[in-house]
Amino acid sequence: MSLKNKHILLGITGGIAAYKCAHLVRLFIKEGAIVKIVMTKASEEFVTAKTLSVLSKNEVVTDFFDSNNNWNNHVALAEWADAIIIAPLTANTLAKFATGICDNIVTACYLSARNKVFVAPAMDLDMYQHPSTTKNIETLQKFGNIVIPAESGELASGLNGEGRMAEPEHIIQYVKQYFENNLPLTGKKVLVNAGPTYEAIDPVRFIGNRSSGKMGVAIADEFAKLGADVTLVLGPSNQYPQEKSITVIKVESADDMYNACISKFETVDIAVLSAAVADYKPKNISDSKIKKKESEFSIELIKTKDILETLGKHKKNQLLIGFALETNNLIEYAKDKIARKNLDFIIANSAIEKGSGFGVDTNKISIIDKHNNLYNFELKSKQDVAKDIVDFAINYLKNS
Ligand code: CTP
Repeated sequence: MSLKNKHILLGITGGIAAYKCAHLVRLFIKEGAIVKIVMTKASEEFVTAKTLSVLSKNEVVTDFFDSNNNWNNHVALAEWADAIIIAPLTANTLAKFATGICDNIVTACYLSARNKVFVAPAMDLDMYQHPSTTKNIETLQKFGNIVIPAESGELASGLNGEGRMAEPEHIIQYVKQYFENNLPLTGKKVLVNAGPTYEAIDPVRFIGNRSSGKMGVAIADEFAKLGADVTLVLGPSNQYPQEKSITVIKVESADDMYNACISKFETVDIAVLSAAVADYKPKNISDSKIKKKESEFSIELIKTKDILETLGKHKKNQLLIGFALETNNLIEYAKDKIARKNLDFIIANSAIEKGSGFGVDTNKISIIDKHNNLYNFELKSKQDVAKDIVDFAINYLKNS
């Protein structure tokens, strides 16, 4: 995973390794993170606020007040951060963190932290080995901070040994690993179906529909990005998920899709049925290509099994989410489907509204839950709609 849109607050203290923060900031930006920086006066001897401001594309805070005497709100900064990284962490600031001393903007942000704090100590060999350093590091670990151990190598003093700040690449790895292990859907199993189905008439012809599968594939990707173990049952579509962790089961007919979904349902926590499953299929499939003869030709159709309705009947603790695609009476029909198919909530979208429905890259949805609460969303890209749907599911799980 990347650190896309993650809020990173970098706190820099006064060690020679502070010069490496220029590279560290670049790496965070490359990962898609939004970076803000606070630094101590001492650290400005080693790297300039200007350099860091240009690289982070944000103002750098060096004091409780700026040059116009405006107060820099350290509480708001700490609250903004999804993670606080203190690099390099000097022996002096380490001791302040361990004892709660608050005498500069970095220590104030540290004490105000709401989310995870990572520290990358950097000091000379003997300082790093001193029992008070060891004790202070253990204290920070007890506080729940993640200590990124100092690395071995040549030190500013000329000595060789442990004490160098971890390389920026390694710091990034620690932060990425943390977010990966703490995704909101880690451990959850999700089933998504997507795309159209093809109902064979003969070996060369079928009855299908115009579904592209884009919406369902985007939903599967979004669940996987947030840590879920996703199985995607995908009808004949040229779309494919980006997330490598997704198990894709390719199917063609409504019957195949039914079998694949039923066999998975019992083991999942969440099921989203976005596929445009054919409602009818030919009663008989011809073994050979049907030749044209008469001026009129009809095919006898029979109903397919309703996958969602069947899952609704088997449902135990799963969160069951359906789709309603309509040309008219959207909300009314959607509400009826929630009850009929025993859903937790349904995503209603119009087949005829501009920018919505089949084939296009955008969608405009409403979500209706089983208590008849209605939530309307703006027209958005299908990726952003997928985010809204997954966020809604996460909040729904939290509140139920
Ligand atoms: N669905 C399904 N199996 C079917 C038909 C539909 O699982 N054989 C699911 C769709 O994936 C969707 C929901 O049911 O999540 C609603 O599909 P839709 O075609 O809008 O509704 P239908 O129940 O088929 O009702 P109608 O065609 O009368 O609107």
